[in-house]
Order: sequence, then C-alpha cells, then structure tokens
Amino acid sequence: MPQVEMQSEIPLFFEDRASHISDNPDWRELCWVSGREPRLWMRPEMYQGLMRSVQQQLELTTDHSLLEVGCAAGMLAKGFAPLCKQYVGLDIAPGAVAKARTLGLPNATFEVANAQQMVYPDGAFDRAVCYDVLTNFDSFAKVEPILREMVRMVKPGGKALVGSIPDESCKEAFLKRAGEVSKELDAKFGPLPPPPQKHRGPWKRLASFFKKEPPASTPEIVCYYFRKEDFLRLGQELNVHVEIGAVHDENPYAAYRFNVIYSQIR
Ligand SMILES: C[S@@+](CC[C@H](N)C(=O)[O-])C[C@H]1O[C@@H](n2cnc3c(N)ncnc32)[C@H](O)[C@@H]1O
Repeated sequence: MPQVEMQSEIPLFFEDRASHISDNPDWRELCWVSGREPRLWMRPEMYQGLMRSVQQQLELTTDHSLLEVGCAAGMLAKGFAPLCKQYVGLDIAPGAVAKARTLGLPNATFEVANAQQMVYPDGAFDRAVCYDVLTNFDSFAKVEPILREMVRMVKPGGKALVGSIPDESCKEAFLKRAGEVSKELDAKFGPLPPPPQKHRGPWKRLASFFKKEPPASTPEIVCYYFRKEDFLRLGQELNVHVEIGAVHDENPYAAYRFNVIYSQIR
C-alpha cells in the first residue's frame, strides 16, 4: 500500500472558498467553491455534457448507489443525484460539505472525509466518481490511494470513473488553449466577475472595520498533469478492467484531458 501523504493546502483553499458562499448556494457560488470558470460553466450545455458523458461511461442507472469523491459544495451532486437511487458525496473541506447539505437534495447525503482513507466497506457502492479533483495533487503516488479506495468500494460488476484528468503529454497545447479560451470569454462576456463576498458575522465585520485589518491572504492551489500509463498500470495491478474515456465534447479542453474508468470483474 503506498504511503498516504496529504497536501495540507488543499482543504485550506476549498475551506476559504466555502466561507464566501451562502446556504443553498446559487450557480455562481457553486462554481466558485469548485474552482470552475463561471463564464464557461454558466452555459447549460457544458454541465449537461458532463452529466451525459459520466452517466454513459459509468452506465449509471436510477437503481444504482453512487459515491462522489471530492464533491465540494455539491455542484455536480445537483446533476448526479437525480440520475441515481442513492447519492453520497464526500469532501475533506467541512465548510464545503456544510453548504452541500443545504441544497436539499432528497436522495443525497454528504460526509466530511479524506478520500485517501475512506471508511466505507468493500463493495459498498454500485458506482463511484471523482471529477476534477486529482489535478490538485502533485504526483500519481498521492492520487493512487484514492483510486485504490474507489475500486475497493465498488461492487463486483461496478465501475469507478475518475474524470477530466489533465494529460501531461499535451500540457503546452493545453496552456496555449487556456489563454485563447480566456480571451474568447473576455470578448463574449466581459471580464471575470469578482468572487462572492466573504460571509462574516456582524461582530467580525465591525471589529475588522475598527481595527482596519488588512484583507486575509487567500490560500492558493496549483494544477498538475498526469500520464495515462500510470492509470493503466494500476488497473492491471488491481486486476480490474481499465478504459480511457473522452471528456465531453462541449468542454473546450476535451482534447487535453481524459477520463479513466475502472470496472470490477463480476
Ligand atoms: C476542484 S474541486 C472539484 C469539486 C467537484 N468535484 C466539481 O467538479 O465541481 C476539488 C474538491 O476535492 C476536494 N478534495 C481534495 N482533496 C481531497 C481529499 N483528500 N479527500 C476528499 N476531498 C478532497 C476539495 O476539498 C474540493 O472540494
């Protein structure tokens, strides 16, 4: 079993983001907590494309239980929960989980947990998904425990999908495209909207007004890239079927990212 090593800045970054949003967060706030570009994800076809591709690649039905690893404040839970029987979202950032619980999704529960050491028994779920999370880890060695846990927790015949993984073999082309997309969005929608206001109680606001406190520094996070070969090798080692899937066409970065689907043999 590889050594489990946490990246301590990850929960800090997402906790800070969750502290900027209200209960029952709106779409813009959900984008903020998930670190998504709001001008891109405001387009319904982006979100619908993501949902459709994950549903197809996981062969997800309304009879299935689904675990989402790294659910943040539930942006994807809103789409996944209606596609399955029972949805469970987990995330390491308690503030994000608290906001997800206010969404009022009837067949969904949300838990605070570290995906590298999950507590569910073997085969607890029919399906598992982890989307746009691995990119926050700086090495395959750190994501490997998450993948092993996801595979362990799906039933025989079940599937685990890890999604939208930045492909190391086309990093330069991806960065070039990111610059172009940013310019296209500026031209179409104007500059990036400011982040939602941080939510602080009235006493804290008053105290900081009189103390003239400098604004709190915001934690930062970096995105990392991965090699398909590492995911294929792990699948062989775990004795599961592995497929590399495409990211949905509506995503302007589809050519530079990939999904991995691990299927448990019956
Ligand atoms: C970029 S956000 C993506 C959220 C959501 N999957 C989406 O696509 O909108 C990554 C999320 O993964 C969570 N995360 C990072 N490391 C984690 C870990 N070790 N265990 C559980 N959650 C983790 C973060 O707290 C954050 O909410």
